[in-house]
Amino acid sequence: MPASEPNAIDELTIREPDDWHLHVRDDDMMALIAHYSARQFARAIIMPNLVPPVTTVAAAEAYRDRILAIMPDGHRFTPLMTAYLTDEIDPDEVERGHGEGVFTACKLYPAGATTNSAFGVTDVRNMHGVLERMQKIGMPLLVHGEVASKDIDIFDREAVFLEKVLGPMRSDFPDLKIVLEHITTADSVAFVQSAGANTAATITPHHLRIDRNALFDGGMRPHAYCLPVAKRAHHRTALRQAAVSGDPKFFLGTDSAPHPRKDKESDCGCAGIFCAPAALESYALTFDEEGALDKLEGFASEFGPRFYGLPLNEGTITLKRDDFAVPDAITGKDLSVVPFHAGETLKWRAMDRAA
Ligand code: NCD
Ligand code: ZN
Repeated sequence: MPASEPNAIDELTIREPDDWHLHVRDDDMMALIAHYSARQFARAIIMPNLVPPVTTVAAAEAYRDRILAIMPDGHRFTPLMTAYLTDEIDPDEVERGHGEGVFTACKLYPAGATTNSAFGVTDVRNMHGVLERMQKIGMPLLVHGEVASKDIDIFDREAVFLEKVLGPMRSDFPDLKIVLEHITTADSVAFVQSAGANTAATITPHHLRIDRNALFDGGMRPHAYCLPVAKRAHHRTALRQAAVSGDPKFFLGTDSAPHPRKDKESDCGCAGIFCAPAALESYALTFDEEGALDKLEGFASEFGPRFYGLPLNEGTITLKRDDFAVPDAITGKDLSVVPFHAGETLKWRAMDRAA
């Protein structure tokens, strides 16, 4: 397709990207959706919020094996496993898992903050032992940055978390690597910018595109609902500026979080947006709109591995300015899942990764 503007870039080849925040679920759902991520990303940080959650080295190894077992031949996809922090987690188990190369990081869910977080941490003060250990061994802490209190307005829960939990934790463990996951506010952008080099954040494709109006666009829109929930438009603007800024503290994490359609379209619909089928395309659209396609490679493929202390990928992926029709639903045996951008035709298409 010809470029829409005379100087527009029509094709972009970047180093293979990674997804630093992904839910691939398990069983039939995993079989239906995991390959979408493997098509675009060389590695992904796999979220541990299964039921029951992944809290032991053995459970993480078994989960990793199940993911690898459903990958197509020649997939070249590496799942990076995480431990789900609970009040009872044993620092020795965490250290052993990290030492054996099974746990890349630990995930902190405040209990009750989001999908399958019932086993999460009730009070961060219970975590001092494990956080101290992680700081010592250089293991990153990945944080769902929302307070779970029902008396705090849902649109304020991220900002309150920064003040009440993350700020103090940042001072108590100055050398701990912390990733504030799926940020949604200008407050989080500012927090990360003003913290030291060992504080970073992931940004999803959907939070770069939707604001809270999308939840009520002509009626209630369950497929636009995720946690942290999308905020006002000015917050989205701050996220877009951070993503395209070239600041290595901000990198790609899709938070692709599929739920069966019937569980989203319900009187108590689940939180989670399934963005994997068009993740890179969606990011490319945003970076293109911001006139910053030259900044996509750093955000998608370089800043994440550098923060985690992992090697950069060797292969490449090519994006072309071309129509890319996103299906209305991804449907399997007894499952249907509605993706982000369902029914839209995007203006960028990602080719398969090249070794
Ligand atoms: C995630 C899920 O469904 O597992 N949901 C979401 O809205 N993002 C959990 C999470 O990352 O908060
Ligand atoms: Zn998530």
